[in-house]
Amino acid sequence: MDLSVVLGYLWPLLYISPAYAANSTPLFIGNIIKGKKPLDLGLRFRDGRRILGDGKTFEGTIAGFFVGLIYFLTFYYLDKKLSILNLYINELEGLTLIVGAIIGDLLGSFLKRRLGVERGEMLPVFDQTGFLIFAILIRSIFFGVVSYDLVLYLFVMTFLIHMLTNLAAHRMGIKEKPF
Ligand code: CTP
Ligand code: MG
Repeated sequence: MDLSVVLGYLWPLLYISPAYAANSTPLFIGNIIKGKKPLDLGLRFRDGRRILGDGKTFEGTIAGFFVGLIYFLTFYYLDKKLSILNLYINELEGLTLIVGAIIGDLLGSFLKRRLGVERGEMLPVFDQTGFLIFAILIRSIFFGVVSYDLVLYLFVMTFLIHMLTNLAAHRMGIKEKPF
């Protein structure tokens, strides 16, 4: 296969990878640090359920942000210096992807609790792609809309990648549930 064809399929995944980094880091932190502090401070919403639940912590969120940022900046400056893909306009673009991914993940948990889905239980599609949708959304607010094809491709690929990596994490004993 032609290299340009391979790159055509690969660059969207590389582009969104800072959001993946920010989204996957908390899981590892969850395994390293015990007794983490929940972001909602254990508080409950009007419906009597937790605002976010114990699955969203200060430690996980902060680690996700900084690991995502360090990953992005390394990738960004390397790509810029070597002028290979020139994926990003500037530093802010990566920041919007990372912050968007974190917001999407938190809003996902907020929605799950409102729907009565327990912490760690699956809310299909939202669990796998909520962070992606918000990463693209926040990015688009600052940098303009992206093509429908790109969103659809990333949506399908992220869904599959999320399912496979979570299953792998479960098999390796990092994650209790396989999703
Ligand atoms: N995690 C964290 N802080 C975050 C996100 C995730 O500490 N902001 C950690 C938690 O240990 C969490 C694990 O990463 O259990 C997996 O994340 P996720 O699947 O998003 O959370 P769930 O436990 O499934 O909780 P929820 O049902 O609210 O999505
Ligand atoms: Mg989960």
